[in-house]
Amino acid sequence: MRVGVLASGSGSNLQALLDACRPPEPAEVVLVACNVPGAGAVERAQRAAVSTWHITDPADGGAMLATLRHHRVELIVLAGYLKLVPPAAVAAFEGRMLNIHPALLPSFGGKGMYGMRVHEAVLASGATVSGPTIHLVTSEYDRGPIVAQWPVPVLPGDSPATLRDRVLAAEHRLLPAVVLAAARAGRPVRLTASAQAFGTAGELPDLTRQLTSG
Ligand code: GRF
Repeated sequence: MRVGVLASGSGSNLQALLDACRPPEPAEVVLVACNVPGAGAVERAQRAAVSTWHITDPADGGAMLATLRHHRVELIVLAGYLKLVPPAAVAAFEGRMLNIHPALLPSFGGKGMYGMRVHEAVLASGATVSGPTIHLVTSEYDRGPIVAQWPVPVLPGDSPATLRDRVLAAEHRLLPAVVLAAARAGRPVRLTASAQAFGTAGELPDLTRQLTSG
């Protein structure tokens, strides 16, 4: 499955995908599109010899679709992409566009909920659990059908930064699992957490347990 990644930042989730989507796996990152010149995501793509595209006008759906089609992208992953995807692209990739969010949706999502604000809001709420959500992208921010979530404990004494790091570690495991499962199935499939692992993902250890035990 040919994967296109849209990013705006450091691209650590992109890196997790670049590391995981290699032969003989049935997924390959074929394009990294970024709206921020010099972002870490661009450097990571270049280091991996993956084509990059600088998004000059994030609202230009025609340009985005043309580029995605040129690279024959079959699945889009928004990995820290901070702009709204144009409606034409969302419609054209309905059911084939994933976003990763660093909290357990439907809580702590929506417009303006990104980056450290998410973790600050989780801590302020007193929640004892957080963790990444991967969902299908629809026209509403953070509201598309949920594909996978990974519960991560909020620990006493957590700062937004320590919580972010713990959630990010889970993101780096969950996102490749979801993309590889999608590639195997030919479309995104829901992964469910069991006591030990994610159903269709196979060999994933229980990250929650690993993290709580230090
Ligand atoms: C991640 O926390 C992701 O959940 C959110 O943006 C952040 C991107 O981080 N959407 P990175 O650029 O992948 O390091």
